[in-house]
Amino acid sequence: MKIEEYKRKIKQIIISEEQIKEAIKEAGKEIDALYDGRPILLVSILKGAFVFLADLCRAVSVPCEIGFMCAKSYYSGTVSTGVVKITMDLEQDISNYHVIIVEDIIDTGRTLKDICNMLKQRNPLSLRVITLLDKPERRIVEFKADKALFTIPDYFVIGYGLDCAEYYRSLPYIAEYGENE
Ligand code: IMP
Ligand code: MG
Repeated sequence: MKIEEYKRKIKQIIISEEQIKEAIKEAGKEIDALYDGRPILLVSILKGAFVFLADLCRAVSVPCEIGFMCAKSYYSGTVSTGVVKITMDLEQDISNYHVIIVEDIIDTGRTLKDICNMLKQRNPLSLRVITLLDKPERRIVEFKADKALFTIPDYFVIGYGLDCAEYYRSLPYIAEYGENE
């Protein structure tokens, strides 16, 4: 992609770096209060949630371990095809952990519904879901996160880990993707 096109498609910033920082600080405090020193495992769903996890784990002061899972929801352009595949599984046996799934965005709800069902069968001590963004208008299967930092309208968004065709994950803010009229 050419740099001019790359820049042009960053339509508008919808959540600033500062707003994200502030919300994560609060979310970290809530986790500290909720778990109160119990062993927690923060599970990031790759790739989109890697930036959120990196900041969230530094906002938490209870001892925590980190785990990674890779789920791919297949997109053709900006439209979800509804196919979710686990391409890399956790290495931990989660039966000894309070698990928090850390996700970037809940859109149709399919990815998290599948992942939660799968992880519940492994009998974690408890299971919660925290997502940076929620697009409730787009839900196809019923799913509610225990905590959503921001609820957004039906925009296709990029930045802070979220991509469009693998680009834009490195932006420090969340922006709407599209042509500037
Ligand atoms: P769901 O299974 O439809 O809820 O899809 C969730 C996954 O789709 C997220 O983890 C993202 O990777 C991707 N996704 C959904 N909406 C967006 C978006 O607006 N921008 C970038 N990725 C998105
Ligand atoms: Mg994702």
